[in-house]
Amino acid sequence: MEDFNIRNITLTELPQLEEQIKETANRAFKCPGYDEDIVADLKTKTDPVIKICMNFNGQIIGFGYGYIAQADTLASFLKVEADNIPDPLLAADKQGRIGIIKTIVTDPTCQGRGIGTKLVREIEQGLLQNDATEIIVPAWKAGNRINIKKIMERTGHKPNFTVDGFWKEDCDSGEFQCVDRINKCICSAVFYAKTL
Ligand SMILES: CC(C)(COP(=O)(O)OP(=O)(O)OC[C@H]1O[C@@H](n2cnc3c(N)ncnc32)[C@H](O)[C@@H]1OP(=O)(O)O)[C@@H](O)C(=O)NCCC(=O)NCCS
Repeated sequence: MEDFNIRNITLTELPQLEEQIKETANRAFKCPGYDEDIVADLKTKTDPVIKICMNFNGQIIGFGYGYIAQADTLASFLKVEADNIPDPLLAADKQGRIGIIKTIVTDPTCQGRGIGTKLVREIEQGLLQNDATEIIVPAWKAGNRINIKKIMERTGHKPNFTVDGFWKEDCDSGEFQCVDRINKCICSAVFYAKTL
């Protein structure tokens, strides 16, 4: 039996949980400085789907969120020219029906128990209910390692394209301290996609 519980939270509930969420994310990413202003980010987004996973002591052990991207913003989000984006994704972008799954984290003490997979599945369901027709997941690739690769494969997401140095600017400026940086930024983003 599962010894965790995943539930929706609203934007109103988020501020009181944000510190705990960031601590979990910092432990998971092993990158001190993960300090994304999740509340500010989500306030500007349409139809956010926010999930937390708690253990039976009420501690947050997992977190993830997604949202519907505004129409015609995909190219700038991906940092690529529109010509490089496959047609079905561009069509969904024009209609404002792209769902983006932005962050998935599981506390290192609780990984490998299916929490990450379940968070992805549940966020995806939420985005589908909010009329997404395509889902995009930016996945962190450090060298040859993609932490979320197995989850993507299991949930039917296919790698679509890779953008080298996707986080380079923030990494170079010290915005966060990436555990994989070796004198320079070596990470890229692999964009997984799935048609719902
Ligand atoms: C990626 C992450 C969310 C997975 O969470 P999880 O709760 O362990 O996920 P699951 O239990 O559903 O694991 C699914 C599979 O992925 C594998 N996996 C989990 N973490 C992994 C990692 N860091 N590297 C490689 N594979 C990993 C598991 O071994 C598991 O495979 P198995 O069932 O064959 O053993 C978690 O490792 C994490 O928070 N990592 C740091 C943050 C991160 O990279 N987030 C994704 C950003 S794109």
